[in-house]
Amino acid sequence: MRLEGKTAIITGGGSGIGRATAILFVKEGAKVMIADINEETGQETVKLIQDNGGVAEFQKVDVTIPEDIERLVKTTVDSFGKLDIMVNNAGIGHAEAKIPDVPVEDWDRVVDVCMKSVFLGMKYAIPEMLENGGSIINTASVAGIKGQKLQAGYTAAKNGVIAVTKSTALEFGKHNIRVNAIAPGVIDTAIVTEWKKTKKWPVLSTANALRRIGQPDEVANAMLFLASDEASFITGTTLVVDGGTLL
Ligand code: NAI
Repeated sequence: MRLEGKTAIITGGGSGIGRATAILFVKEGAKVMIADINEETGQETVKLIQDNGGVAEFQKVDVTIPEDIERLVKTTVDSFGKLDIMVNNAGIGHAEAKIPDVPVEDWDRVVDVCMKSVFLGMKYAIPEMLENGGSIINTASVAGIKGQKLQAGYTAAKNGVIAVTKSTALEFGKHNIRVNAIAPGVIDTAIVTEWKKTKKWPVLSTANALRRIGQPDEVANAMLFLASDEASFITGTTLVVDGGTLL
């Protein structure tokens, strides 16, 4: 049990990578708080965990709202006694468009959901970790490393996630708070639903060394490694989980 006695918050825990991570963390001994804007799917994750004898609770949050995240952290500490692991994972894409055609609202929303959320998650989680240390994992994307046309807002936000991960790792290393990011390649979750309808999907989904799409569990395994003591000397890094997309 690699997370025995640990407590974790997982944003975006109602679906895809967040759900797979929550289920795996509980299997490894953690208690998890599922935080999602979608109450139905978030509660489904909780039920899946509880039906297997695990400990999980749900909080409805919008990760862009400071008060929601402040309440999320407080409720978690009230329920579980402490906070060891914060996974800032909730995210959205935006409609494909070239820069002149990107609606300003689309840019603002994707940057808020994908990047401001990471700042807020860390802002409220870190004070709870100062005494005993902790592990923070922020979900970036290979798009934030290599750039991606027609997805400028998403790409910018994910690159920002990598940058703020490094800054925060430097600020809180002395408190034994490790801060890392994960950069998934194309993973089979709800976020790629629209892409699946396009002609480019067969090429896009297999454009990596392993020639296949990734599965949420394969990202969850990387989350588990970074959350666990096995990664005790790893901070400020971005772990790429992309089947070789960046090669
Ligand atoms: P998903 O769509 O299955 O899960 C995203 C979750 O975030 C959903 O449960 C959704 O309700 C929640 N969410 C969205 N906006 C929210 C908000 N404002 N407040 C709270 N919760 C909110 O997608 P997936 O793939 O599991 O995404 C997880 C993370 O992985 C995201 O940050 C995404 O950008 C990132 N990622 C995904 C890739 C993929 O190919 N699936 C590739 C690279 C990165």
